[in-house]
Amino acid sequence: MSILVTGGAGYIGSHTVVELLQVGRDVIIVDNFSNSKPKVLDAIRQITGKNFKFYEIDYLDTEKLDKVFKENDIDAVINFAGFKAVGESTKKPLDYYTNNVAGALSLLNVMNKNNVKTFVFSSTATVYGNSTEIPYTEDLKTGDTTNPYATTKYFIEEILKDVYKADNSWNIAILRYFNPIGAHESGLIGEEPQGIPNNLMPYVARVAKGILKELSVFGNDYNTPDGTGVRDYIHVVDLAIGHIKALEKLEKEKHGVFIYNLGTGKGYSVLDMVKTFEEVSGKKVPYKIEPRRPGDIDMFYSDPTKAKEELGWEATHDFKQMCKDSWNYIDKNY
Ligand code: WQD
Repeated sequence: MSILVTGGAGYIGSHTVVELLQVGRDVIIVDNFSNSKPKVLDAIRQITGKNFKFYEIDYLDTEKLDKVFKENDIDAVINFAGFKAVGESTKKPLDYYTNNVAGALSLLNVMNKNNVKTFVFSSTATVYGNSTEIPYTEDLKTGDTTNPYATTKYFIEEILKDVYKADNSWNIAILRYFNPIGAHESGLIGEEPQGIPNNLMPYVARVAKGILKELSVFGNDYNTPDGTGVRDYIHVVDLAIGHIKALEKLEKEKHGVFIYNLGTGKGYSVLDMVKTFEEVSGKKVPYKIEPRRPGDIDMFYSDPTKAKEELGWEATHDFKQMCKDSWNYIDKNY
């Protein structure tokens, strides 16, 4: 029985495939390389010494997706496919609603048709919107989102809740990621955004490496300790392991909708990252203060208690290690 991983050549997807293979799971990857590169597939094989099936298809193509289910014995799906940059989503809402929401619907319909109803969904802390109650707990109101990316994830969460209400045989885990950074210790896989990075860490890493000139700090007038944005950064390997734990939970429970924050419970600012990155890399990260970015909010971080209690999961890599592993990846590959 296999686990189908959509977006499995992507940043979080590839790290999760490594962990799945290393605990002996059988994996099938579906990816269209819209935000990933083919070389990642060989890197996964090199790290694990294991193989997996791969289909280069767009998950919006229900016909080709159905063929994957017909050709394989799939018992669960982890969905990473989707665009994920907050800033970019405010400029390209149609691309985001099509790829993220229509794509998820395409996948869920094909799963339903093939009677595969165990589903792990890659959601995000930004579904909490401008919530003032920090740290975020899973019972907080969602939907007051501040950008199209977050709204697509909120819509899919609501679709999943309605699907379960109509058919209790579904078995769904919704994982609300905080800010994934870092890379596998081998330095063979890491974050590879297409073009100029939207996210902070890949941008900082490229400035340290001399690939980009200087970092634009989007606002230093936020209501945070040093005025710059504060986020709950989580090591991508911790995040990947959270998916294994969620899958095990679903295999135990058999049906339901289970929602978990995957974060560290700690917040770090943009300038904290600059300072720590300079420490671990020994390189300077020049920056300039720029106006705020549309869609951004001051500060958020998680309360990860529920995942600890119900999944037996907690993040183990600290902020310095996250910066070290991100630097190791960029330093080895550029
Ligand atoms: C972090 C902070 C920016 C870039 C994240 C991920 C996204 C998704 C949703 C999981 C903010 C500041 C950034 C730069 C900067 N995660 N910044 N200069 O916006 O919190 O969104 O959560 O599903 O993958 O993007 O992350 O890294 O873009 O920004 O000053 O060049 O860094 O203002 O305060 P964000 P980010």
